[in-house]
Amino acid sequence: MSIDQKQRQRIVASQRDAWRRFGFHPNALFWSNREIQETRFRILLEAGMQSGDSLLDVGCGFGDFSAWLEGQGIAVLYTGIDLSPELLAEGRRHYPALNLVEGDLFEFDPEPGSYDWVTLSGALNRDHDDDGEYARATIRRMYETCRKGIAFNLLDARHEWTRGRWDLQSFHPAAIAELASELSSNFKVRDSYLSNDFTVLIWKQGTENV
Ligand SMILES: C[S@@+](CC[C@H](N)C(=O)[O-])C[C@H]1O[C@@H](n2cnc3c(N)ncnc32)[C@H](O)[C@@H]1O
Repeated sequence: MSIDQKQRQRIVASQRDAWRRFGFHPNALFWSNREIQETRFRILLEAGMQSGDSLLDVGCGFGDFSAWLEGQGIAVLYTGIDLSPELLAEGRRHYPALNLVEGDLFEFDPEPGSYDWVTLSGALNRDHDDDGEYARATIRRMYETCRKGIAFNLLDARHEWTRGRWDLQSFHPAAIAELASELSSNFKVRDSYLSNDFTVLIWKQGTENV
């Protein structure tokens, strides 16, 4: 499934505006502050990434997740993909060692089982006007791409603020848990760390979770 090209242009244009306004700062990623960004990273890490694991980060922004993991003493083999050329260029300036690639997951087209972990933070929050079809396809493709597991967060549709934002896409945790259960019996939904957000951790069928 490829991303709708008008939607893609909207995302690229709004990220360009935000980057021009805020530069190398979480606000350019539409996070209200660094703590909110890093809270999400902390929950993603519950999947169990370890030093030496390979990790594909979908919608990586600047690649901050890699730097944050390093700060936790975890050096992964990191690849980040993102639609925004400006964010990727800024990320390469700050983190020259990272492999940062332009595109969405379907354009990047990874081989099945080609990364230990596939993660996504905040990259499925824009409304795609498709009843969540692109988001679900992305989650399925993330699972196909991983060897050990995937971790991603979404906005929580039970929250009044998200429901009221026409430009944002949100989901019911129970509906995403159902999708997760179709992929693997080994999954967890975490929804008590921020009021408007939840995270789903899915381990590959047959892999011990850590
Ligand atoms: C809220 S920011 C989060 C960035 C990063 N994950 C972080 O937490 O620091 C969302 C990012 O996802 C990117 N994005 C949105 N839709 C995407 C898609 N379909 N494929 C790849 N990147 C996407 C945006 O360009 C933006 O950089």
